[in-house]
Amino acid sequence: MKTSYKNDYLTTTELRKRAKSKIPKFIFQYLDGGCNDNINLAKNIKELGDIELKPIYITEHKEADLKTELFGHTYDAPFGIAPMGLQGFMWPNAPEILAKSAGEYNIPFLISTLTTCTIERMNELAGGRAWFQLYHPKEPELRDKLLKKVEGAGCPVLVLIVDMPTKGYRPWDVRNGFDMPPEISIRNILQMMAKPEWVLKTIYHGRPTFAIMKSFKDAADGHFYFDHKLDEKKIAEIRNKWKGKLVIKGVSSEEDTETAIKLGADGIIVSNHGGRQLDVGQSSIATLGPIVKKYEGKIKIMMDSGMRTGPDIARSLASGAEFTFLGRNFMYAVAALGTHGGEHMIRSLKTQLKQVMEQISCVQVSDLKNHLVKRD
Ligand SMILES: Cc1cc2nc3c(=O)[nH]c(=O)nc-3n(C[C@H](O)[C@H](O)[C@H](O)COP(=O)(O)O)c2cc1C
Repeated sequence: MKTSYKNDYLTTTELRKRAKSKIPKFIFQYLDGGCNDNINLAKNIKELGDIELKPIYITEHKEADLKTELFGHTYDAPFGIAPMGLQGFMWPNAPEILAKSAGEYNIPFLISTLTTCTIERMNELAGGRAWFQLYHPKEPELRDKLLKKVEGAGCPVLVLIVDMPTKGYRPWDVRNGFDMPPEISIRNILQMMAKPEWVLKTIYHGRPTFAIMKSFKDAADGHFYFDHKLDEKKIAEIRNKWKGKLVIKGVSSEEDTETAIKLGADGIIVSNHGGRQLDVGQSSIATLGPIVKKYEGKIKIMMDSGMRTGPDIARSLASGAEFTFLGRNFMYAVAALGTHGGEHMIRSLKTQLKQVMEQISCVQVSDLKNHLVKRD
């Protein structure tokens, strides 16, 4: 497609470094951090990196095909853009840029309840295939209105997040007054002033708001509306009301997988929220193995957390994930490269993944599993 492949930003490390130089410090820390001592954030990346794939060289070599069928639609790649709140605050116009790239490249875009653009606009940009990630509203009437709105917008998949019964302990965010809405302290203002491109673009695109929640109440103060402590009853009620596909995100145990199946969910995203909620937990890739072993074929098993490269996506798929999602990567890319960030990241990940598949002799994404090096 359009953009030239920028030679300077071929790795996520380079994009992250450039994003850091362009986003106000307190906002970059919100994007980049995990929780507590960042142990699980590091484990997500390290333990994925430990996974090895075995090549078969003496064989018929064919071009790899990244197309992947999921919930009745064939996507052009086996990865999508994970939901992220406050996107337009991290980089002006970020949700619009990412939704548009996802639409153009035919990959799923997940809308966070707490993002800064309306459902209708993002779904239109994403080609009418955006999934909606629901933060569970406290009041049943608000929940029902929100579900109607999502249905009306035409989103085919509802993603219910279950891994936030508490607020993750993120010392830098507390220190920075980064809350819903963020505190405007002198220090934060100075940090914003130090990033003129961010300031100018924010002025141009207008102050970001919680665009989705804003249409329900006057003051869009995130936490007030939500009840993040989910149980079977609350999920069953949603299953009853939502006729489309239902995915439970934030699953980190066999127990929750079992419950998701029992309640009639169509899929799970094995995820530890990018290491932002439970520092004493397992990495997402460590959780994935036993879940795949026990529940493969009983529910769609997807995964996020810790993937930074095409080889990481290959590792996750080889370990049994049927689809993958990445969060921070896409925000780093948009902050680093603006309107080209989304498509740059998608193209880069596709190029890297295709190279791995053709190097080890995989034609289909599903072949990756046959190349996993197993250790006892
Ligand atoms: C800055 C930021 C904001 C996030 N906001 C949300 C959100 O609003 N809803 C949600 O379900 N997950 C949210 N997540 C978690 C992501 O959807 C995803 O699980 C995580 O980023 C995957 O890990 P990765 O960043 O290592 O790829 C957020 C993650 C980050 C980094």
